[in-house]
Amino acid sequence: MTIKEEIQQLKIAKNALILAHNYQPGEIQDAADIVGDSLELAVKAAEATEPVLVVCGVRFMAETAKLLSPEKTVLIPVPDAGCPLSDFLTPDMIHAARKEHPGAAVVVYVNSSAEVKAAADITCTSANAEAVVRSLDQETILFGPDANLASFVQTQVPEKRIIPLPPEGHCYVHTAFTEDQIREARSKGWRIVCHPECPPEIQSDSDLIASTGGMVQHACDCDEWFICTEREMGYRLTKLHPDRHFHVDSDAICKDMKKTTLEDLHRSLRDGIFEVEIPDEIAVPARKAVEAMMAVLEKRA
Ligand code: 13P
Ligand code: SF4
Repeated sequence: MTIKEEIQQLKIAKNALILAHNYQPGEIQDAADIVGDSLELAVKAAEATEPVLVVCGVRFMAETAKLLSPEKTVLIPVPDAGCPLSDFLTPDMIHAARKEHPGAAVVVYVNSSAEVKAAADITCTSANAEAVVRSLDQETILFGPDANLASFVQTQVPEKRIIPLPPEGHCYVHTAFTEDQIREARSKGWRIVCHPECPPEIQSDSDLIASTGGMVQHACDCDEWFICTEREMGYRLTKLHPDRHFHVDSDAICKDMKKTTLEDLHRSLRDGIFEVEIPDEIAVPARKAVEAMMAVLEKRA
């Protein structure tokens, strides 16, 4: 039996659901039951009837699944798959910013630790950041850790004051895109879609700014696209639309997203490792912030 067949057998035997982010290696995406963006993975994890969830992605994704499904066993095949963007923000920074801006709301991107979520009022993903900010009564919003997503939200919600926390928070994969790349793509007649973690000048030169789930939904109305995000998005989109061309930057690699192998997934299912556990004193307030985001989505539905 091949390792892929064994993974499918183990999945059934353990009554597990495999969730993979859009940036996971192609073979992991192929082995998964659900492939999606951060929000889709969180929603599907919460809806799942299986008692075991294997989250192939980075740690904050597995933690978010655990927060929304505390009764389930949530496994991450590679425990040190992190997100350098999430490391920009700490709970202490939030406490200090609250003192400096009394009365401001604190919105944190799900790309953050459970400890940071616990210090926030509400979380958001790149698919719903605008809606989350609009839903709040406060006029001043402390928003972190991604300053480019903060800047995108500011353009969408100009009536509020968005303060990036910290101002230098960024993702090294998305900030590497250059205006030269955009000019070159334009000269070839390609349409351009970028993730809101890209810098403002890339955002303003793009035809579409979207979460990775938004790219799946909208990036299919043209034959040739330049995709300003992690390169595995090209695999995902090409699989969905084999008749179209999705050009990516082959150097746009999230190293942590590439840590998961089929062997890791196999071991995770076989041995029930590595289980995500969040102490109650962090999980309870962090869950409140994630559930507040889910409530905004429910109101919109
Ligand atoms: P999405 O929620 O759009 O999938 O983004 C997650 C992420 O980590 C982007 O770098
Ligand atoms: Fe984090 Fe950037 Fe990797 Fe997304 S692509 S998981 S933001 S480091």
